[in-house]
Amino acid sequence: MRSGLSLLTLPALALAFPGAVRDEKRQLLGTVGNLLNDVSGLLGSVASSIDPDNFRPESGYDFQAPGPNDSRGPCPGLNLLANHGYLPRNGYVNFGQVVEATARGFNMGADLATVLCVFAVLTDGDIETESWYLGAGPQNVGGLVRHSTIEVDISPNREDYFLGCGDNHHLSSRIFTQNVQFAAQSADKDFGYDTMARHYGANSRFSQQYNPWLYYFPFPSIVSVVAFNFYPEYFSNGTYGSGGVANYESISSIVGAQLNKETGQYEYVPERWPEQGWYRRSTPYGAVEALTDGFTRIYPSNLVPMPIAQLGTPNLNVSTILCDIYQGLNSVTPLELGGETTDIEAQITWALGKLVAVGISDTILGCPKDVTNNNILYPNSTTAGGPLGPDPVVVSRAGNNVYNKVYFTAAPTTPQCS
Ligand code: HEM
Ligand SMILES: *[C@@H]1O[C@H](CO)[C@@H](O)[C@H](O)[C@H]1NC(C)=O
Ligand SMILES: *[C@@H]1O[C@H](CO)[C@@H](O)[C@H](O)[C@H]1NC(C)=O
Ligand SMILES: *[C@@H]1O[C@H](CO)[C@@H](O)[C@H](O)[C@H]1NC(C)=O
Ligand SMILES: *[C@@H]1O[C@H](CO)[C@@H](O)[C@H](O)[C@H]1NC(C)=O
Repeated sequence: MRSGLSLLTLPALALAFPGAVRDEKRQLLGTVGNLLNDVSGLLGSVASSIDPDNFRPESGYDFQAPGPNDSRGPCPGLNLLANHGYLPRNGYVNFGQVVEATARGFNMGADLATVLCVFAVLTDGDIETESWYLGAGPQNVGGLVRHSTIEVDISPNREDYFLGCGDNHHLSSRIFTQNVQFAAQSADKDFGYDTMARHYGANSRFSQQYNPWLYYFPFPSIVSVVAFNFYPEYFSNGTYGSGGVANYESISSIVGAQLNKETGQYEYVPERWPEQGWYRRSTPYGAVEALTDGFTRIYPSNLVPMPIAQLGTPNLNVSTILCDIYQGLNSVTPLELGGETTDIEAQITWALGKLVAVGISDTILGCPKDVTNNNILYPNSTTAGGPLGPDPVVVSRAGNNVYNKVYFTAAPTTPQCS
């Protein structure tokens, strides 16, 4: 299926503008023309191996755009599930709902969903009700937009918290444009691993060069890496690697990127499954697969130093990374605590119990025993930009997603506050 883009009409349009305006317009149309070329080169591939049971959405789960009071934030997967009613449409979700919805909607493995939910409750939500907001919490406290918890620098298609001047949650037009270019230049013309690894390389070098507050904490740094494999593994039409395709139609719809063909910018629109039909992957993709793929296929394109002890040694493998996650609970900053040791211990105990229930534990993995030492917080946590230090971004732009707008037409090499 080809789109109706007519590239031939562009130069003719440019001639309609006189003088300087015409030159400017021609330049713009030249750039836009390249982008439209990239996009049209990506259209038309469909999945060859599909199982009708995996058609999504199922009936009764129609897309509905979020209203102004519905909480949406940096995770396209969860935003989409709320927009289709697999999660509460108001965006206030709990642990059990998310484990079930992520499996049903995308076939995320329960172990991976559990690890993510544990961190979401602990760092962004409420432990009594095991719940959290997909965007910002009440009075902008907590929620998935909270920085350096699960939300992290070097994201596939969001700007860094500091350079985005607090906007770490809207899809960035300039980054998605880069992603499309890399897809168009890839051998398979898709959003597969070659494209996403190159994208990780470019985004991480940008952050290293321009973001003085690049904090790559143990858990968020892992999320940063694996989020790049989530594009092909979860957002493909059908099962990636066995007939499914990480095509433009699927990815752009699911992450809410809508091209304005006149300006060449991507508007951020509510995340939804493609209207022409889409099939989720047919097998679960869980923690072991995600970590293996992330560290063998994404991360090698630029080895950003991260506080994972085994990095660069032969001891780095999925077991040791899972042990790091298990023990690394010590490095997170629970939302409500402000460092009260007894409360922290109770929360860590709750969290470890959840992980053990899905098979991530010291005995199974052979992790060292001392998981609840006193190193609760990341070293230097009270320096500016650290979890307990002053916020280097003066203007807070936390809040829920506002859709149908363009964010970041140019790369923010310094904080872009408007
Ligand atoms: C199970 C609970 C989940 C939680 C708590 C969660 C949380 C988050 C958070 C906080 C981010 C922001 C990270 C960043 O700054 O880059 C994020 C990003 C992301 N999440 Fe989720 N997520 C979950 C499940 C999922 C699922 C099921 C999918 C896919 C089907 C998914 C796909 C993604 C992707 C692709 C990104 C990167 C966004 C981008 O920059 O393009 N997540 N998630
Ligand atoms: C997904 O694949 C199916 C089966 O080939 C096809 O009918 C459908 O149009 C594809 N959807 C997208 C968004 O590419
Ligand atoms: C959103 O919340 C505000 C403030 O509570 C309220 O005035 C408004 O009616 C709500 N809008 C919708 C669409 O529910
Ligand atoms: C991972 O590395 C550790 C430490 O070198 C080793 O004990 C363990 O057997 C390895 N596990 C796997 C699955 O390779
Ligand atoms: C903490 O800060 C000190 C002084 O700025 C620095 O020398 C040290 O490397 C920092 N430690 C970590 C783990 O970042």
